[in-house]
Amino acid sequence: MPNVHILGIESSCDETAAAVVGAGERIVSNVVFSQIVTHQPFGGVVPELASREHLRAIVPVVRKALAEAGQTYQSIDALAVTQGPGLAGALLVGISYAKALAFALDKPLIAVNHLEGHIHAVLLEERQKGSFSDHPPNFPVLALVVSGGHTHLYLAQQSGESWAYCNIGHTRDDAAGEAFDKVAKVLGLGYPGGPIIDKLARHGDAGAVKFPLSQIKHRDRNEKGTPGQNGRRFDFSYSGIKTAVLRYVETRRLRDSIAARQAALSAIAKPGLEDYLALCDNETLDLVASFQRAMVEDLLAKTLAAAREYEVATLFVTGGVAANNQLRERFESAGANDGLPVYFPSRPLSTDNAAMIAAAAYPKFLAQQFAAMDFSAEAGMALR
Ligand code: KG4
Ligand code: ZN
Repeated sequence: MPNVHILGIESSCDETAAAVVGAGERIVSNVVFSQIVTHQPFGGVVPELASREHLRAIVPVVRKALAEAGQTYQSIDALAVTQGPGLAGALLVGISYAKALAFALDKPLIAVNHLEGHIHAVLLEERQKGSFSDHPPNFPVLALVVSGGHTHLYLAQQSGESWAYCNIGHTRDDAAGEAFDKVAKVLGLGYPGGPIIDKLARHGDAGAVKFPLSQIKHRDRNEKGTPGQNGRRFDFSYSGIKTAVLRYVETRRLRDSIAARQAALSAIAKPGLEDYLALCDNETLDLVASFQRAMVEDLLAKTLAAAREYEVATLFVTGGVAANNQLRERFESAGANDGLPVYFPSRPLSTDNAAMIAAAAYPKFLAQQFAAMDFSAEAGMALR
């Protein structure tokens, strides 16, 4: 059904987004309103402020996505909205609006798991490039979803039009993106931390500070009866490295220089890389580079170990942290060494967007898996 147009709506965290996608493989419009400036003074996402900002932005963002697509409320075929996981209040804004629109327009509504959205960001773009039309990805696919809220490993198999997922790894504490954000905050580099650490890391010596890789030896007590329970699990843990950075800052007495940097940066309206570099000494740049390398090597080592254990044929790496330059380079070269094809979304589609939600909804549209009007937000929604 090449002419099916789905309007996707995403509001799970700090981006209000709407997009129109044709047949799950063509981005017709993709509008993302980022709330970064609202949350920046707090060094992280404030859930109440996120809900309020979504309420303000949702109507104009959806209108813009339709206008840029040359579509109208009446001309779209279906609506899709993120059901979870995410911030409950933030999710509810998107869900309530999507329900009201679907009801008023008498159009089908599809509830989408945000994590499946991130995986579909890869599929959508590969299909758009035409690379999966002749050679669809070989299964099993291993998907690493690595963002500010999640660090998950899924084994994916095809199941009719849709994919079925089995979780074989997750973080026991902080998500990888959360570690980037918290370390940036500790070092007075602002929010979000990932993009600025990515840029600064190439100016430091990644071998200067040794961070040990996390070793997880015991079973996760919260893990009950998941499909992967009999197979090996590949869990992550990133709260230790955050504490190690904090300890480094204390023992090296970096507090005063961090406070000075923070004050200087807050006085600059839109600080650029040169401003950051001028405010970071070599010790800080080395620390940033060493931290990023430790994160990337840990993500890579666990993902490759899982890929070998489960003999996967294809690797997807997606989510906000997949925008990281060093991570992409390391996964690409390691994948080439192992003969494992590795796919990423483009950088704009790595972070939260609604095109991935509309794309993930397309197989459900074909299978007529429509949401009942009484469904609600699921903050801790699992992907199966
Ligand atoms: O996928 P996303 O937009 O939202 C969630 O679903 O969480 O991911 C946002 C996260 C933030 O933690 C941000 O610091 C991180 O992705 N991030 C990066 C980069 N760009 C964004 N981390 C490392 N390197 C980057 N270039
Ligand atoms: Zn996300």
